[in-house]
Amino acid sequence: MTNFNIIPNRRNNINGTKWTFVPKDVLPMWVADMDFPAPRPILNSLRKALEHGVLGYEIPGGVLQETVAARMDRLYKWKVKPESVLAVTGIVSGFTVAARAFCSPKKGVAFHTPVYNEFHEVKDNVGVPQMDIPFVKSVKGNIISYAIDWDVFEKQVKKARIFLLCNPHNPLGIIFSREELSRMAEICIKHKVLIVSDEIHSELLLGGSKFIPMAKISREIEKHVITLVAPSKTFNVPGLFCGFAIIPNEELRKPFEMEMNRLRLHVASMGLQAANAAFSGQCDGWLRELNRYLTGNRDFLVDYVTKYMPNVRTTLPDATYLGWLDFTQAGIQGSPFEFFRDTAKVYLSDGKIFGKEGEGHVRINFGTSRGTLKEGLDRMRKAMERM
Ligand SMILES: Cc1ncc(COP(=O)(O)O)c(C=O)c1O
Repeated sequence: MTNFNIIPNRRNNINGTKWTFVPKDVLPMWVADMDFPAPRPILNSLRKALEHGVLGYEIPGGVLQETVAARMDRLYKWKVKPESVLAVTGIVSGFTVAARAFCSPKKGVAFHTPVYNEFHEVKDNVGVPQMDIPFVKSVKGNIISYAIDWDVFEKQVKKARIFLLCNPHNPLGIIFSREELSRMAEICIKHKVLIVSDEIHSELLLGGSKFIPMAKISREIEKHVITLVAPSKTFNVPGLFCGFAIIPNEELRKPFEMEMNRLRLHVASMGLQAANAAFSGQCDGWLRELNRYLTGNRDFLVDYVTKYMPNVRTTLPDATYLGWLDFTQAGIQGSPFEFFRDTAKVYLSDGKIFGKEGEGHVRINFGTSRGTLKEGLDRMRKAMERM
């Protein structure tokens, strides 16, 4: 059993930007990595490589492609050929490469907003138009939820070349249903829009939630989808920058691969090594324990906000270790991100980096020990009481 209540000190950790970026009196609850060490089989495989001592070139090959394909089959009964799997230097690289390969200055990317801040960077990084598809927000008690406005979805998506889907969704924690995925795909296919599905959070499932990859909905849909997966969030190895693009349709895979080759995007050998151990199945017991612990943290967060933070609203995420708090009714003057940074000494992610709908909101990272989560919430509550 892993004891997730105990976390290492990361203030002096070379992989610790989350902690070293902020002054010592500030508690970091921002960037999306967790405070837990990676599972043992991953660490052992890295140690083995280090102990050998020769850190030569490693070209991602058959064994790793088979490991990824086997994982898709085991998790979702999604049968993909190993050659459909390409190693990428992270998921942001993956969707950026896709935009470079398929978009044009006239037809760019469309995505739901608010969404992961890096989606918003594609526009300038690749030089393509961006179509926002704002969610419709609703409130029940202090729980907020977000739904798709299908008219807006179609109106915006048809102007794009790529629909960039974030599923499960960062920062809202939504897992889209089979029906929603089918409907999104149907509209995209009707308008000849490719789907790039960022599924980096797909194995961080809370409260027994189930996930279905967009490309698994049907063989027809699969032809239009580039799926991006990685062990980085699930097993907390994001600093190793290794992910995978699964592209069964050769007509999409070839241009994608060509663009990767042009850019000379090579994954480091340690990333490949870790990914193989992570996806092999040896870490799945650890992952089950992690998901139970994160579910406890989510429930703790939601209960805490409900009990002790009047007029603050929260999502009830089904996936990820990211909470989304709405302070628009809480009477804070100016940005809640700055308020909590300066007054509570808690460093959160500013809601507005996820799109203008995120103004007045913050994202909170609960991928930490319960004690640290409580400490952060206590600091926030006290700062609000002093207000
Ligand atoms: C939805 C989503 N995609 C991609 C990433 C980052 O992926 P990578 O570090 O592999 O580029 C993150 C990190 O927070 C994320 O939340």
